Amino acid sequence: MKKIGILFGMENTFPHAFVERVNKKNIKGIVAEAVQIGSVQQAVATDYAVIIDRISQDVPFYRAYLKNAALMGTAVINNPFWWSADEKFFNNCLAETIGVPVPRTVLLPSKERPADTTETSFRNLKFPMDWHQMFDYVRFPAYMKPHAGGGWKSVYRVADPQDLWNKHEETGQLVMMLQEEIVFDDYFRCYCIGGKEVRIMPYEPRNPHHLRYAANMKAGGPAGEKLLETIHDYVLRLNQALGYDFNTVEFAVRDGIPYAIDFCNPAPDADIYSVGQDNFEWVVEAAANMAIERAQQQKPGKNNLTWGSFIRTSAMNPPAAELQKGETARKATAAKKSSSAKAKAAAPAPQEEAAPAVVPAPAKSRAAKPATEKTAARTPAKKTKK
Ligand SMILES: Nc1ncnc2c1ncn2[C@@H]1O[C@H](COP(=O)(O)OP(=O)(O)O)[C@@H](O)[C@H]1O
Ligand SMILES: [Mg+2]
Repeated sequence: MKKIGILFGMENTFPHAFVERVNKKNIKGIVAEAVQIGSVQQAVATDYAVIIDRISQDVPFYRAYLKNAALMGTAVINNPFWWSADEKFFNNCLAETIGVPVPRTVLLPSKERPADTTETSFRNLKFPMDWHQMFDYVRFPAYMKPHAGGGWKSVYRVADPQDLWNKHEETGQLVMMLQEEIVFDDYFRCYCIGGKEVRIMPYEPRNPHHLRYAANMKAGGPAGEKLLETIHDYVLRLNQALGYDFNTVEFAVRDGIPYAIDFCNPAPDADIYSVGQDNFEWVVEAAANMAIERAQQQKPGKNNLTWGSFIRTSAMNPPAAELQKGETARKATAAKKSSSAKAKAAAPAPQEEAAPAVVPAPAKSRAAKPATEKTAARTPAKKTKK
C-alpha cells in the first residue's frame, strides 16, 4: 500500500477535498490521508510515498521534517530544498534566461540592518548606491515588493523617488525589489500541476478578494487565442525550469505581451471560496491525479523529488577542474575500448551530452570597487542613520 499524505495549516476546503478525491478513485494500492507526525528522527523514513506540502513556508519544523522525509524516499511536493532556496528576484533572473518576459526589476538592500550586523557588514555596498541608474532602468511609477514574499504583504505602488524613500521606511529588514509597473489590459493566474497540466484563470487583482476570479478575459478572437497559447507555453517553461509540481504563475498583459509577475507560489491558494467552484474542481482533480501518478512511480529509499532544469543543468555543468577529471577518465576509458578493437560507437559521457535548453547566461562581471566609505548605503534615502 502506498500512502499519499497532505500537510496543511489553516486551509479548510482543499486538503479534505483532495484526500476524498484520491480515495474515491479507489486505485488499488493507493490511499490518501492528512499527514500524522508523532516524532521526527533523523534518517528514518516516513510512511508516505508522497506528501503534498501546503504549509512548510510558515512552519520551519515541517520544512525540516520534509527534507528528512525526502532524503528517505518520500516524493515531497513541492521539493523542499528548492523551495528553501528560491525567491522572486532569482525567479525573474531565470525567466529572462528562458525567454519569458518579466518587468524590469532591481534588488534593494533592506532599510534596516539584519539582526547581528553592523555598518561594517556592508562595506561592499557603494555609497551612495547607483540610484539614478536603477531609476532610469525601472522608471516610475513602479512596484516595490519583498523579494521573498506573498499574500500581497508589503506590496507598494510608488509614484516617484520620494514616494519610494517614504514607503521604504516601513519595510524594516525586508529585502525589496523595485519593479517596472505593467499597466495591464488582462491579468491571469495560472495553475501548473506536475509540470504539464495548466489552467489559465482570468483574474482581476483590483477586485475585492472574493471576486478576483470572477473576471473575464478582454482579448478575443485570434489574438486572444494566440495569447492563451503563449501563456500556456510560458507557464510550462517557468515551472519546468523551476521544478515545481504545484504552483501558480501570474501574468499582466500589456500590448498583447504577457509579463510574468508572480510565479513563486508553491502553496497556491486553492480555496473554493476564493478560486470558485470550477477552478476548485479542476485543481482538486489535477492534484489528485498528479499525486497518484507520483505514488505509483515512487521508488522507496530513492530520491523521488522533482528538480527543475535549472538545477539539473547546473549539476551537469561541474566546475572546470571536475570536468578535466572527467575528461581524463573518459579518455582513458575510450583508449581502452579502442585498443580492444571491438569498440562500437561509444555512448557519449554525460559531459558531452547536448547542452540542455536552460543554461543561464553567465552574469556580467562588474569590476568591484573598493569600499572607500565607512558607511554602507543602508537606505535609499540620503544618509544612513546610526
Ligand atoms: N510590476 C507590477 N505591475 C503591475 N502590477 C503589479 C506589479 N507587481 C505587482 N503588482 C500587483 O500587486 C499584486 C501583488 O503582487 P505580487 O507580485 O503578486 O505579490 P504576492 O506574492 O504578494 O501576491 C499583483 O497581483 C498585482 O495586482
Ligand atoms: Mg501574487
